[in-house]
Amino acid sequence: TQHAERQRVLDALRLSREQLIEVKNRMAMEMNRGLAKESHDKAAVKMLPTYVRSTPDGTERGDFLALDLGGTNFRVLLVRVRSGKRRSVEMHNKIYTIPQETMQGTGEELFDHIVHCIADFLEYMGMKGASLPLGFTFSFPCHQSKLDQGVLIKWTKGFKASGCEGEDVVTLLKDAIHRREEFDLDVVAVVNDTVGTMMTCGYEDPLCEVGLIVGTGTNACYMEEMQNVELVEGDDGRMCVNMEWGAFGDQGELDDFCTEFDRVVDVHSTNPGKQRYEKMISGMYLGEIVRNVLLEFTSKGLLFRGKLSERLKTRGIFETKFLSQIESDRLALRQVRSILQHLGLTSSTCDDSILVKEVCSVVARRAAQLCGAGLAAVVDKIRLNRGLPKLKITVGVDGTLYKLHPHFSSIMHETVRDLSPLCEVTFLQSEDGSGKGAALITAVACRIRDSGQ
Ligand code: BG6
Ligand code: GLC
Repeated sequence: TQHAERQRVLDALRLSREQLIEVKNRMAMEMNRGLAKESHDKAAVKMLPTYVRSTPDGTERGDFLALDLGGTNFRVLLVRVRSGKRRSVEMHNKIYTIPQETMQGTGEELFDHIVHCIADFLEYMGMKGASLPLGFTFSFPCHQSKLDQGVLIKWTKGFKASGCEGEDVVTLLKDAIHRREEFDLDVVAVVNDTVGTMMTCGYEDPLCEVGLIVGTGTNACYMEEMQNVELVEGDDGRMCVNMEWGAFGDQGELDDFCTEFDRVVDVHSTNPGKQRYEKMISGMYLGEIVRNVLLEFTSKGLLFRGKLSERLKTRGIFETKFLSQIESDRLALRQVRSILQHLGLTSSTCDDSILVKEVCSVVARRAAQLCGAGLAAVVDKIRLNRGLPKLKITVGVDGTLYKLHPHFSSIMHETVRDLSPLCEVTFLQSEDGSGKGAALITAVACRIRDSGQ
């Protein structure tokens, strides 16, 4: 029957508990491979040292600039941090757009645009000519050998500006500032968005030692024991590690769980073969998975009366926000239909709406479960590191998919609870983005530098 045929297609996108446990175990293995010196170069999950050695303690203070590049919005921020009894953070920020041509043009164009936005912001704040220390949230994989340097390993998500990979992004930023000859800036820290988010949330909750992003892309960071961070000298204390877990699966670790739909989405992306886990989880790709499933149903005559419209064949029509809208519980089927119509999929019936909603729900559930399985590996590793029978920990989270999708977060929480029962995990949503955290990191670095330690 048609029903059975539909379910057969969807079953490929459903993961059993055993499969999720396997994902967790493989992630745990990959974490160790990425941390160890001898296997690091070959590992898919890079486990990058960040040179951030502690979470906030309330003594941070000063005025800072922050940049936040790599999510949906590019922001420039002014962050005022007060310490002591009146400890508080005051923020002003402005959102700028980065045109697609700039994201994919030359590195010089991209960084000139960034500096142009900083100049505009300083003028807007009435601070032209001010030279404040700056924390740069740069949400891409970077090799760091100190806090104020980050060599871009490779672009991810939609970015592909030329001449940046293999270069230090602080140098690229400084060169652009010098080309403009208008002001100077003291770039003190390069910070991944996961790390910024962990620090933002850590300011409110000292138990926050994990940062998670589920937005355009996905990634996590956490506090690892220095003795396990083999790429950095020294065995004392901890360091935050930017996992770059989006690349999990790039060496076949997820092949057993991938479907034909995942392979098609990967092949047509800007970075085929890369970021395979990210492509099964994050906002930039879920809509494309859904669209490909709908294409399959339609070509089999199970949807849209078997009529393959040009619209449905168009890449990128299914933005993540539609996924969130379609799955909203308050939405009547009639409204699902109007969303489909809005997408130009006009010939839909009521049955079509039910099926589309089911596809969205299966794809989002799988994403949330995969993400939860990865996170279960992270919190369990922290627990084992510390030799604890039970661990109480907070995960700071940001990203539009996590925040806007009606079911993603609850399914993800449930998966973590199920797969790491010895950890009591609290999720804290960042309302302030990652710029605040980047400023806190910058504050600590300035204090240490100024005291000549
Ligand atoms: C923002 C953070 O709130 O969330 C960014 O400030 C981060 O640093 C972003 O990259 C992630 O979400 P999205 O959905 O914008 O990719
Ligand atoms: C991509 C980037 C990573 C970032 C994540 C979330 O995976 O490589 O650095 O943290 O997206 O924005």
